[in-house]
Amino acid sequence: MTTYKLPLPKDFEGKLNNKNTHLITLTNRAGMQIALTDYGARLVSALVPDKNGDLIDVILGFDSIQGYLSAVEPYHGATAGRYCNRIAKGKFSLEGKEYTLAQNNGTNSLHGGIEGFHTRVWDRQVSFNKLVNFYYVSPDGEEGFPGELKTTVTYELTNFNEIIIRFRAISDAPTVLNLTNHAYFNLNGEGNGDVLNHVITIRSEEFLPLDENQIPTGEVFSVEGTAFDFRQPKLLATDINSQEEQIQVASGYDHSFINNQPISEPIAKAFSKETGIELQVFTNEPCIHLYSGNFLSDDEGKSGRKYLRYGGFCFEAQHYPDSPNQLEFPSVRLDPGDVFESEVRYKFTINK
Ligand code: BGC
Repeated sequence: MTTYKLPLPKDFEGKLNNKNTHLITLTNRAGMQIALTDYGARLVSALVPDKNGDLIDVILGFDSIQGYLSAVEPYHGATAGRYCNRIAKGKFSLEGKEYTLAQNNGTNSLHGGIEGFHTRVWDRQVSFNKLVNFYYVSPDGEEGFPGELKTTVTYELTNFNEIIIRFRAISDAPTVLNLTNHAYFNLNGEGNGDVLNHVITIRSEEFLPLDENQIPTGEVFSVEGTAFDFRQPKLLATDINSQEEQIQVASGYDHSFINNQPISEPIAKAFSKETGIELQVFTNEPCIHLYSGNFLSDDEGKSGRKYLRYGGFCFEAQHYPDSPNQLEFPSVRLDPGDVFESEVRYKFTINK
């Protein structure tokens, strides 16, 4: 069995664009530990007790800043923004003006562009070994988006083995916004094979089908009778190779499920029989995006083992992808004077 430890702070100390980078660690009363870095306001590790009381690192990532800088997959654990997920053709209009963004995913703009929030060094403030606030001011026009945007991302580790992430933002001009956390989970332990043996539950009746560029078609499909029906617990492996068009288009799961659950009820769950660790996800965002790590390959993670295809999965709480171009989707517009607020809770329990 792998013995998991948090990375060392000294391996995260450096300078990027004239800002110092750090590793911050939090521990709760139940012995759970997490590590965060200001580079990308990201979650580096989460050591969670398993059914034997051993600590398992359930987050994919690297043990140094250098690891994150040279990774093939740049979004491990990061805050993705200003607009996580895709904007078709890297273009949208707001108040009659067209904005052009970097096309960093075929013709799409993905996760805020080439130098999205995941590449920024955020300011930080740590409170009582319990909570970390990260701050970033994104200048007007950054990566093509209008308005100066002030963003705060708060991570809290509770004594109930929950990681609560709160996003807040204000803008000085009308803009669009979609923020998420992009942690990859492996409840067997990072680097410990793939996640196909995880039991997944998603309490959603509907999902957004994608076109060949992975942009929502604008339709809303029922999960009934499809590979996307996770209303009853189901192994991730069950339908991941289905011949259904929607699975083929994304080479696995990479889809947004509509969230109609109140924040007090989990919209999604994942469970590993191997460790007994169950993850529950609570959010007030209108979607939960399941990404089954279809494009992971080649990165060597903290454990020294490679992260291969399906080596981790993401439950990204977010707005509908491409909303700036799909006006029938819930609005992602943020006006001066308004405060954007959203929350996601990742809660870990043992289920024997
Ligand atoms: C997207 C995937 C993408 C991945 C990149 C996910 O949020 O939905 O399509 O490949 O991020 O890390």
